[in-house]
Amino acid sequence: MAKEKTIFTCTECGGASPRWLGKCPACGAWNTLIEALAETGPGTHRYSASRYAGLAQAQGVMPLSAIEASDVQRSPSGIGELDRVLGGGIVEGGVVLIGGDPGIGKSTLLLQALDALQRAGLPTLYVTGEESGAQVALRSRRLGLEHSQVNVLAEIQLEKILAAIDAMQPAVAVIDSIQTMYSEQLTSAPGSVAQVRECAAHLTRAAKASGVAIVLVGHVTKEGALAGPRVLEHMVDTVLYFEGDTHSQFRLVRAIKNRFGAVNEIGVFAMTEKGLRGVSNPSAIFLSQHSEPVPGSCVMVTLEGSRPLLVEIQALVDSGGPSPRRLSVGLDKDRLAMLLAVLHRHAGVACGDQDVFVNAVGGVRISEPAADLAVLLAIHSSLRGRALPRGFLAFGEVGLAGEVRPAPRGQERLREAAKLGFCAAVLPRANAPKKPIEGLSIHPVERVEEALNVVRDLT
Ligand code: TYD
Ligand code: MG
Repeated sequence: MAKEKTIFTCTECGGASPRWLGKCPACGAWNTLIEALAETGPGTHRYSASRYAGLAQAQGVMPLSAIEASDVQRSPSGIGELDRVLGGGIVEGGVVLIGGDPGIGKSTLLLQALDALQRAGLPTLYVTGEESGAQVALRSRRLGLEHSQVNVLAEIQLEKILAAIDAMQPAVAVIDSIQTMYSEQLTSAPGSVAQVRECAAHLTRAAKASGVAIVLVGHVTKEGALAGPRVLEHMVDTVLYFEGDTHSQFRLVRAIKNRFGAVNEIGVFAMTEKGLRGVSNPSAIFLSQHSEPVPGSCVMVTLEGSRPLLVEIQALVDSGGPSPRRLSVGLDKDRLAMLLAVLHRHAGVACGDQDVFVNAVGGVRISEPAADLAVLLAIHSSLRGRALPRGFLAFGEVGLAGEVRPAPRGQERLREAAKLGFCAAVLPRANAPKKPIEGLSIHPVERVEEALNVVRDLT
């Protein structure tokens, strides 16, 4: 085996240096050198890119048709909402990265899932680097899992963890969290980019080689991105994110990448005193319960996974100072600026000197452009101080030319809204249903101005 020593490589150009330098000697970029391992065999000295790349088993060249397509082996975790985001269950040899704010419920959910798998007869291992075994036991009592047979290892050194996985050969191993792990081959501290990347790469290789499914828990930074390099997302098969507000009871788990299932699929949970419980019919939990309609609120139906969800969009427009603020929570800030420009230019509604705040209720994040029309109508409603009618909803993408573009699967969205008692919808003309939907009056529009006129007529 080649002897390994550490070098510093540039994240921009891949250039290497034996010492840490502020400036890359190859490309001149600043602060891009990070610690990495070099393999020094006889006559070779190269950056070990292979440790990150060689995840698939090496095979000779052969035509696609000659390769046997093996179906993936899935083990359902027994927690329906988690299986939904995983695409049916945990895949043999698959690596899942699960991210989220501290205290949102990552450890709780995974302990529950491991216990369910263990009870289904699959050996499981929970590696904790953040809590002691006693703390994990305390949590398990709280979850009502005092007789759980899940194996727990309190350890942060990668080599020992790999040895334990190798010796025990569990079906699923959870690493909680990847930022607390360190490899003794690197000198940098746990949680540093180099350590996180190195540990994840080793664990991924171990998963592929042994068929053990590995779940990595990752912390997110204040900006909401997984701390550590983006390379983590490329390395793993599935990336799940916890969403939702730690102050509210509900938690969303969203698949943002999945090699074994659909992306954007959402699992919905409620945090109870006995852990996380799946919410099987979640469509109405992101609506606040106003006894009377209030200005600045518009409901939309979002359909990012396979299930429609009704979400209330709130806006507040208030007179601002010399440099007015535009703030959005759960919605794209750049799109907000774009919508304000469209509102001004095409509908003559100016908010130039006003502060504008928008929020998706319940801590849910909406990235689909179908939210545009609801955001726009909520802003307009707040500006006029007039509430939208009771049972009103809107969805549709808004373009820079002021046009309202269709959203995918409009019928499904409308049916869900009708089921929950909504009675009026403003939507893109292309989404207008051919047959009427009982209880729902449809107002198809092609342009933003038209949508505002419909609302003026209704209120
Ligand atoms: P935790 O799983 O430790 O979060 P993470 O691993 O993502 O940091 O969740 C801890 C929070 O969940 C904590 O605020 C307490 C709450 N909680 C419950 O409400 N009920 C429970 O049964 C458990 C175990 C935790
Ligand atoms: Mg935790």
